[in-house]
Amino acid sequence: MDKQRGVPPDKVSRRFVNFVLGLGFSGILSGFAGTALAYLSPRRDSAVTSDFITGRDGVLRPDAIGENRGVVGRSRLGKILVIRKGNRLFGLQARCTHLGCTVGWDGVAQQVECPCHGACFDIRGQVLRGPARQPLAQIELVVGDEGVQVAPPAT
Ligand code: FES
Repeated sequence: MDKQRGVPPDKVSRRFVNFVLGLGFSGILSGFAGTALAYLSPRRDSAVTSDFITGRDGVLRPDAIGENRGVVGRSRLGKILVIRKGNRLFGLQARCTHLGCTVGWDGVAQQVECPCHGACFDIRGQVLRGPARQPLAQIELVVGDEGVQVAPPAT
C-alpha cells in the first residue's frame, strides 16, 4: 500500500486501465452512431441555390438532351428527370415514390422506369406499374439559352 496517499498501487493502475478502455469504447460507439445517423439522414442539395438544373458538365443545356432521351440533373428541388420529346421538355421529380430510388427514361419503352423494384410511370409521371402507388411530381421548367431551370413558385 502506498503510505503517502493511502491507496494501493495496483488499484490506481486498474482504475486507469478501466478509464482508458471506457474512453475507447465510448469513442467506438460514437463512431457507429455517427455513421448510422449520416446513413439515415437524407442528402440535401443545399449547395444548389439557383433555379438552374445542373448535370455532370454544369448547367443543363436544352441542346444537350437528345430526342427521346432523358437526363437526371440536380436542382433546389432535388433530382429532376428532364425528358425531350420533339421540341418539348418534360420535367419530373426523379425520386421514385415507392422507396426513393432514382428513376430514368426508357426511350424504347417510352416510359419512366425505376431500376430498384420495377415501377413504371408515363411521361407525365402517372403510375403505369407498381409497386409505386403515387405519381411522380411534374416539374414546370423554364428553358432558355443559359440552360434549363425549375420554374419559380407561383405567387
Ligand atoms: S424504389 Fe422505385 S419501385 Fe421501389
